[in-house]
Amino acid sequence: MTGGYRAPIRWGMVGGGEGAFIGGVHRIAARLDGQFDLVAGAFSSQPERARRSGEALGISADRNYESFEEMASAEARRPDGIQAVSIVTPNHMHLPVASAFLRAGIHVICDKPLTTSVEAAREFQAEHKDSDALFVLTHNYPGTPMVRQAREMVSQGVLGTLRHVQVEYAQDWLTEPADSGNKQAAWRTDTSKTGAAGALGDIGTHAYQLACFVTGQRAIQVAADLTSFVPGRPVDDNASVLLRFDDGAKGILWASQVAPGNENALSIRVYGDKGGLEWRQEDPNRLYFTPFGEPKQILTRGGAAATSSAISATRLPGGHPEGYLEAFATIYSDIADEIRLHRSGPSLSQHSLLVDLEEGTHGMAFVDACLRSSTANGIWLSI
Ligand SMILES: NC(=O)c1ccc[n+]([C@@H]2O[C@H](COP(=O)([O-])OP(=O)(O)OC[C@H]3O[C@@H](n4cnc5c(N)ncnc54)[C@H](O)[C@@H]3O)[C@@H](O)[C@H]2O)c1
Repeated sequence: MTGGYRAPIRWGMVGGGEGAFIGGVHRIAARLDGQFDLVAGAFSSQPERARRSGEALGISADRNYESFEEMASAEARRPDGIQAVSIVTPNHMHLPVASAFLRAGIHVICDKPLTTSVEAAREFQAEHKDSDALFVLTHNYPGTPMVRQAREMVSQGVLGTLRHVQVEYAQDWLTEPADSGNKQAAWRTDTSKTGAAGALGDIGTHAYQLACFVTGQRAIQVAADLTSFVPGRPVDDNASVLLRFDDGAKGILWASQVAPGNENALSIRVYGDKGGLEWRQEDPNRLYFTPFGEPKQILTRGGAAATSSAISATRLPGGHPEGYLEAFATIYSDIADEIRLHRSGPSLSQHSLLVDLEEGTHGMAFVDACLRSSTANGIWLSI
């Protein structure tokens, strides 16, 4: 992906200790192109578990911290301190950790969703508007070559004027009440940790961000119907949302964690007056394109019709599958480029495809509008 050797970025992690899910994915992704070196961490909220996790990852004892506060201040003082930190904690701990590192001048890579409420997001955005470090939210699906190709084709007008977007993210793992030992389910169904939205915040935000990324548009109004089908669950596990986009397109978003038969069935279909596109994350190397009146075409990653934005995110020749990890690695590769280009201020470079704080806050405003709409029996509300 990138030419020539450049010293890896000194990098730390908060969360992602023993038994955690996404921290391990970030570590693989960051290592894939050799641009990050994990040298410090506060890997768990429990000090003993944090220490054990850091030891297992080969972190030296003096940089294997028991708390993120201690890590931020100690790393800021070191001449060889970390340049960037990844935050892979549950949602309620994203912004307290991000604040500590941004204040220390350390770039922040934070997993989605930004936080638990739009109010917290706006407050954080105002507080850090003059930050001298970068903030990136890891919505990873736009790292997929065929998603980049879809965006490029839409922006070049290949589909004509956009009319309709159909986006969905369906899972089935919360179809029944989760057992108490399921760590990932426990915080995702606890409003103090996940926020007021359940499936909508957890995976609906990925679907919405994907729709915005591919179309280059944002929703301005929503009408939402959120349901908690599992008795006693305090957050939605199924969300149906109608969307009106700022450039005239209409859309439907469905996010569900109670849809038997679905694992990570994220998909998008986009239709304009000249043609249609379909992409499914469980078949990520293919993009289905139908110019109106002609047969459907299967465009492949690395194939004859690959566009420049797809090629630049591709590592292997076509036919050798790439997927979730590689897309995540492309996000890390783009972040490394941004860090190396960074001179001052909080802004990403003009043509960056990464998700910044402003877009992360917009994602929370989308969630907030859906929650309010659903409470008001599904009326149309502005974001
Ligand atoms: N981008 C994606 O595709 C994707 C996928 C899954 C999860 N996520 C996001 O990643 C985040 C974590 O999700 P997960 O499924 O990995 O959760 P998890 O429960 O598996 O892991 C969370 C980790 O954070 C640690 N933690 C909690 N509080 C901490 C603190 N104060 N200091 C240090 N560590 C602390 C926990 O000990 C644990 O190691 C969530 O925000 C989630 O929405 C993103």
